[in-house]
Amino acid sequence: MSDPVAFIENNTILKSPSLVPELRLHLADAALPLWEKTEEELAQVGLPPPYWAFAWAGGQALARHLIDRPELVAGKRVLDVASGSGVVALACLWASAAHVAANEIDGFALAAIQLNADANALGRGLELVGRDMLDEPTIDDTGVALWDVVLAGDVCYEKPMAERMTGWLRRHAAAGALVLMGDPGRTYRPTDGLEQLAEYSVPTSRDLEDSDIRRTVVWRVLPLTQR
Ligand SMILES: C[S@@+](CC[C@H](N)C(=O)[O-])C[C@H]1O[C@@H](n2cnc3c(N)ncnc32)[C@H](O)[C@@H]1O
Repeated sequence: MSDPVAFIENNTILKSPSLVPELRLHLADAALPLWEKTEEELAQVGLPPPYWAFAWAGGQALARHLIDRPELVAGKRVLDVASGSGVVALACLWASAAHVAANEIDGFALAAIQLNADANALGRGLELVGRDMLDEPTIDDTGVALWDVVLAGDVCYEKPMAERMTGWLRRHAAAGALVLMGDPGRTYRPTDGLEQLAEYSVPTSRDLEDSDIRRTVVWRVLPLTQR
């Protein structure tokens, strides 16, 4: 398998996501052939799908929301689960979060997040967590929530992942964390137990989505007790 850092540098360009001009990320460019390959072709050369090479509509809306309302994360301990390019995690650091853990199961995404942090001089306070956390506890030994804020951008596109993710996010909310999810109407978004906080029109690419603009909502995920 390729060296992730060299691979990312050779197959992306540094550019700003349309809704988040404050950040520059290593993202796919239509001019580079890698992004035309199918998932099967990528699997043959040992590569997972390059989710990290796009700032997804859910992540962009969440990042926009946090940069516009820095008080939600400033000085806080934040977890960005399924971080991808790190667009949400870096928005939190931009908004002066004290500590941000960016969680990913894809090693290429972890490398991309670090490169993107470096490109924006936002490495201070960033921790990379490279394991599946979705069955882990949400409180410490004394019963205190592990995180002040838990964030998830665009995570409801596959059923098993969306179900595990939603259950875990609700447990964080029950523990006392502020839990926010950015979602452009993906199939497996929960239909209840969410409170709408904001709505954005996110410009997207026809290569990725079925429309040029995705209406994308920032939801507060409620604990089971509030449903
Ligand atoms: C559609 S991308 C969203 C990335 C980013 N949040 C955004 O909005 O741009 C979903 C990401 O979830 C990651 N992922 C899938 N299952 C995961 C798990 N169990 N734990 C952490 N990340 C996971 C994938 O590797 C992928 O990068």
